[in-house]
Amino acid sequence: MNRTDPSVSQKDRVLADVLFTPVSLGALALSNRMIMPALTRMRASADGIPQKIGAEYYGQRASAGLIIAEATAISLQGRGYPRMPGIYTADQIAGWRSVTDAVHAKGGLIALQIVHHGRWSHSLYSPDGSLPVAPSAIAPAGVIYTPGFTKVPFETPRALETAELPALVESFRQAARHARLAGFDAVEIHGANGFLLDQFLQDGTNHRSDAYGGTIENRSRLLLEVVDGIVSDIGADRTAVRLSPHGNLGGLSDSATVPHFAYVVEQLSDRKIAWLHLIEPRASSAGIADDASVDSANNAVLFRHLFDGPVITAGGYGPDSGASTIAAGLADAVAFGRMFIANPDLPERVRIGAALNLFDRAKAYGGGPEGYTDYPALTAGRDR
Ligand SMILES: Cc1cc2nc3c(=O)[nH]c(=O)nc-3n(C[C@H](O)[C@H](O)[C@H](O)COP(=O)(O)O)c2cc1C
Repeated sequence: MNRTDPSVSQKDRVLADVLFTPVSLGALALSNRMIMPALTRMRASADGIPQKIGAEYYGQRASAGLIIAEATAISLQGRGYPRMPGIYTADQIAGWRSVTDAVHAKGGLIALQIVHHGRWSHSLYSPDGSLPVAPSAIAPAGVIYTPGFTKVPFETPRALETAELPALVESFRQAARHARLAGFDAVEIHGANGFLLDQFLQDGTNHRSDAYGGTIENRSRLLLEVVDGIVSDIGADRTAVRLSPHGNLGGLSDSATVPHFAYVVEQLSDRKIAWLHLIEPRASSAGIADDASVDSANNAVLFRHLFDGPVITAGGYGPDSGASTIAAGLADAVAFGRMFIANPDLPERVRIGAALNLFDRAKAYGGGPEGYTDYPALTAGRDR
């Protein structure tokens, strides 16, 4: 895709142009189709307040068509990672305001991904030592980071009472309202990667016998109530959803993935949300594995035709494969996760065909500027 290299074919140039064709996602008019997806970096304060360095990091990446800021807890109970940001206190809203200001000052757009971790948490995150909550009392396998970055085995969560669910829906709505107060252009509801809403969707983790378990319709109910609550407050054209239909992160599984998620996608289509963000199965490990193991299913192929609105696809894409996917009509925009971590000026590098910095996984989570704000941008005459 090097546009300065005469050996590059006309076909490659046409593909590169695809990424730089403007597109609208709901109320947001993007100048290019390269999306920075939510990327957890664990660098907020212990109270979940985004720090000054976070504003620098996101500001550096403002040339993305759209930034979706990292998964952010809707409530104290929703946390599950150390130094994870939140959006439930005034100080957190103020911290995020400096981030959105930094991105907007450079002409960028920024949405916030909001999450409740559900069973992917630990009583160490609770002020009163209470257990994490989940659809059913089923423990994930493996270990979890404590607030001090050590690792301990997961606990068996407490199953949520039916009567607790309206308050949960309300916490999501309030988080979305706070996100708008903090200056975010939109909100992406995290329905993917094994967190609470995904735990409700998939029957490996949802053994409930009330109106939120059992049938596909019942298991989709909580997500759809969350969507409806947020849409009623901030509008459908600023509300989005991320799903990972074939994802098994956090030990999730579903007995009928395709019909189930087809129903969810059709329901979301009816609600005319701003975008649907699908993670491809090859990224079921959410970027934890570098080697893409492309298995049978392709979410864009399976579900795109069921959603009458913009689709973002994510997972193992490079500029060429991303552009081809858009050109084939399978998505409207493409997320580049690890590439945006390592390349603050990724669109410019792709546009001119410059070399890309490599992602350093060891510095992904926690710590300071190393592996966060110190990935170099191109400077005049370098790397060209
Ligand atoms: C360090 C890191 C943190 C991530 N954090 C999040 C997150 O907060 N929310 C989310 O939905 N996905 C998260 N992901 C998944 C990415 O958004 C993306 O789907 C994944 O990296 C695959 O895209 P890629 O192959 O372009 O990196 C994370 C991935 C990485 C590598």
